Amino acid sequence: MKQKLLIVDDNEDIRQQLKWGLSSEPYELSFAKNAEEALAAFQAHSPQVVTLDLGLPPNTEDSTQGFHCLESMRARNNAARIIVITGFDSRDYARRAVEMGAHDFFLKPINLDELKVMVRRAFQLHELRQDNADQSAQASDAGQEGIIGRSPAIRDLLAQIRRVAQSDVPVLIQGESGTGKELAARALHALSSRARGPMVSINCGALPENLIESEFFGHERGAFTGAVATVQGKVEFAHRGVLFLDEIGELPVNLQVKLLRFLQEQVFQRVGGRKSIQVDVRVLAATNVDIQTAMKSGAFREDLFYRIGVVTLKLPPLRQRGDDVVLLAEHFLAKHSRELAKQLRGFTGEALERLKAHSWPGNVRELENRVRRAMVMAPGAFITAEDLELQSLEAPRTTEPGTPGGTTLKEARSILEKRLVEDALKRSGGNILKASEALGISRPTMYDLLRKHSIET
Ligand SMILES: Nc1ncnc2c1ncn2[C@@H]1O[C@H](COP(=O)(O)OP(=O)(O)OP(=O)(O)O)[C@@H](O)[C@H]1O
Ligand SMILES: [Mg+2]
Repeated sequence: MKQKLLIVDDNEDIRQQLKWGLSSEPYELSFAKNAEEALAAFQAHSPQVVTLDLGLPPNTEDSTQGFHCLESMRARNNAARIIVITGFDSRDYARRAVEMGAHDFFLKPINLDELKVMVRRAFQLHELRQDNADQSAQASDAGQEGIIGRSPAIRDLLAQIRRVAQSDVPVLIQGESGTGKELAARALHALSSRARGPMVSINCGALPENLIESEFFGHERGAFTGAVATVQGKVEFAHRGVLFLDEIGELPVNLQVKLLRFLQEQVFQRVGGRKSIQVDVRVLAATNVDIQTAMKSGAFREDLFYRIGVVTLKLPPLRQRGDDVVLLAEHFLAKHSRELAKQLRGFTGEALERLKAHSWPGNVRELENRVRRAMVMAPGAFITAEDLELQSLEAPRTTEPGTPGGTTLKEARSILEKRLVEDALKRSGGNILKASEALGISRPTMYDLLRKHSIET
């Protein structure tokens, strides 16, 4: 099938520039300068790929016409891959466009080489999508891709994952530790056109700086002492699939530069090599630190953030997911029953109440660990709050050794107070201001409490 590309831009110079610039590519080109022409051409030529400038007449400063165009094209043929082109200061538009089903976005000014790479990938993915259209459609009907939860927060997340899965933009997944960032990345991969390709992970925080470049891009024999053979990097293994960069906030700055170049051009060199190697990879990244802050301090490059951070998924902490905690607990109980070959009947009512009341600083991972540990320890047929070690927000038990005759209300209060303060500090990563805000007390009160309970910060 002939590769047809429709270029929509109101600016005559840009149309000329693209016509000339893309003349070396095997595409059949058509052009449009406003929304009306664009939709007519879309209908007449059925292009597989479109580049769409969002700022179309009559008012090129706003993107109403551009979005209208995108929406109509998606409605007519959602297999077409639409690359949205927008000004650098309108990144919000880029995100919105991707959520509406755009294939990718391109920030002006137009760099022809980068645009060519993006267009080429769009054609490739279009083809891939045709090959396994049925399969992907099935996958998206299948449900939640292993993500358990019915809370509004999780439903929103799943909807967003489905919306951005079909595009090819990098996605930044943010969330506290244990919230399921990697699981979300796997779901995105499984629902994308790259599902049949690999998902390869790199933990950017786990490697010393001198090894990480080679981990990414590989190295040639003799590149450094100990490089006895040529080794392929993770980027190469991820060809036609997804590269998952965990803890991206930890990536050393010089690697950030190389990663950005790779994202723009999809070519790289092995360490110690001169040959440029071309691959086709979508990058997903995860972080549990606030990249915005890292950017202000210079630890994270702004230009890289504007490539990987335009589309973000925010994973809600478990304490904001309501009764999902119960669903998840039951899920883990079933999962580990098989593995531990131990049959338990379920949770006691009190245990369920405690599960819901706990603040889960370690999120789903903490829940899974607690359930698993409780299953091993539980003496009876039901898992109790004690088995889960979740009596923490309660007054100490009168049956506890060393407290015969019970605890006074004053003592109980004091113990509870201390635990709440410690908990809040843990969740705020030791940030006293944040912790006091979370507890709804002033900073001086917080300091009083720290002193009273001899809590170290
Ligand atoms: N909604 C969920 N449904 C089912 N399992 C979940 C869910 N969320 C997380 N899990 C499970 O909890 C564990 C932790 O999830 P995951 O590793 O994806 O979290 P993370 O955010 O990457 O954590 P970290 O910040 O520690 O790397 C995994 O075993 C994962 O399968
Ligand atoms: Mg993780």
